[in-house]
Amino acid sequence: MSSRILLTTTSYQDTPGSHHDLLESGGFEIVRERGPLSEARMLELAGEFDGFLCGDDAITQAVIDKSLPRLKVISKYGIGLDKIDVKYATEKRLPVLFTPGVNHTTVAEHTFGLLLGITKKIQSNAVAVQNGEWVAGWKKPVGNEIMGKTIGIIGLGRIGKEVAIRAKAFGMDIIAYDPFFDGAFSYKYGVKRCANMDEVLHNSDVVSLHCFLDDTTEGMINTSKIAEMRDNVVVLNCARGELVVVEDMLEALKSGKVGGYGADVLDAEPPAPNHPLIGAPNCIITSHIGSRTHESVNRQATRATNNLINFLKGDSDFIQANKF
Ligand SMILES: NC(=O)c1ccc[n+]([C@@H]2O[C@H](COP(=O)([O-])OP(=O)(O)OC[C@H]3O[C@@H](n4cnc5c(N)ncnc54)[C@H](O)[C@@H]3O)[C@@H](O)[C@H]2O)c1
Repeated sequence: MSSRILLTTTSYQDTPGSHHDLLESGGFEIVRERGPLSEARMLELAGEFDGFLCGDDAITQAVIDKSLPRLKVISKYGIGLDKIDVKYATEKRLPVLFTPGVNHTTVAEHTFGLLLGITKKIQSNAVAVQNGEWVAGWKKPVGNEIMGKTIGIIGLGRIGKEVAIRAKAFGMDIIAYDPFFDGAFSYKYGVKRCANMDEVLHNSDVVSLHCFLDDTTEGMINTSKIAEMRDNVVVLNCARGELVVVEDMLEALKSGKVGGYGADVLDAEPPAPNHPLIGAPNCIITSHIGSRTHESVNRQATRATNNLINFLKGDSDFIQANKF
C-alpha cells in the first residue's frame, strides 16, 4: 500500500516547478488541502496519513495524538516551526523535518523592499499616482536615504546575515544582537555586536526582526520597548507577526514615535479585514510573500519533498529539527 500524504501548503501547490514531478516520483497517494489549516480542520483530517507535507497549519498536541500511530513524519515546507508542537512531537518520537538554508536571500531582499518602500515613500506615492494624484513641486513627498543610517538586526541567523550583507552594500552602519552571535561573520562584514536587544533598540534608525517566535520572543516589541527606540525609527518584521504587540505598534505609528512599520507577517494570517495595522499610517504590510520567489519556492519545495521521500524510504538525506 502506498503511503498517504497530506499536502497543505498553497505556495508549494500553486507555484510551478520541478518539485511537482519530484513529489509524483514518490508514488504516494496525495490528499491536497488549502492551508494554513486550523486545528479544527486538522483534527477532522488527522489519523489517515503517513506523512504531512505542511505549511503553517496548526499541528497541536491534539492533532498529533489523533494522527498517531499512523503518522510517521511531519515535513515542514519552511523553517518556522512555531505552529507545530515540536516539543510534543519529540516526546512522541515523531520526526519534524524542515528546510533551513533555502530562502534566506529571498527574505532579505524582501526586507529591503519594505525598507525602501517606507523610507523613499515608494508605496504611498505609487498608490497616489495610480489614483491620479501626481502632485507637483513642494507638495511632492520627501523621503530619507538609508546610507549612513544604523540598522539594528535582532537575530543574526541566516536571514539576519543576508540583511547585514545587503545593508553594508547600501552604506549602512550595522549593529546586531543574537544570543548565539557569529563573531567571524560580524568581523568580516563590520557588524557591531550588542550585548542585548535593548542596546540595539537604543542605537538604531532601523530595527529589523529576524529571530524565531517562541515563548521568550512573543510580544518582544511592545510599548515599553518602543519607548527605548529612537524617534522616527523604522521597524521591519519579516519574521513572525506575534513578535510585535499590534495595538502598541498602532499607537506608536499614530503618535509618530515609529516612523514606519514594514511587515511581511501578521499575528493572524489571513488577517480580519479590519486588522488594526492594515491602513495604519506609514505601514506597509505584505501577505507573507517574503519567501515567495520562483527561485526560493523551488528550493524550499525540493528540500521539503526530498526530506519526506528520503525519510520514508530510509535514506539519511533529510534535515530533522527535533533530534532524539
Ligand atoms: N517572511 C517569510 O516568508 C519568512 C521566511 C522564512 C523565515 N521566516 C522567519 O524568519 C525567522 C528567522 O529565520 P532564519 O532562517 O534566519 O532562522 P535562523 O535560525 O537562521 O536565525 C534565527 C536567529 O535568531 C536568533 N535568536 C533566537 N532568539 C533570539 C532573541 N531573543 N533575540 C535575538 N536573536 C535571537 C538565533 O540565535 C538565530 O541565530 C524565523 O522566525 C522564520 O519563521 C520568515
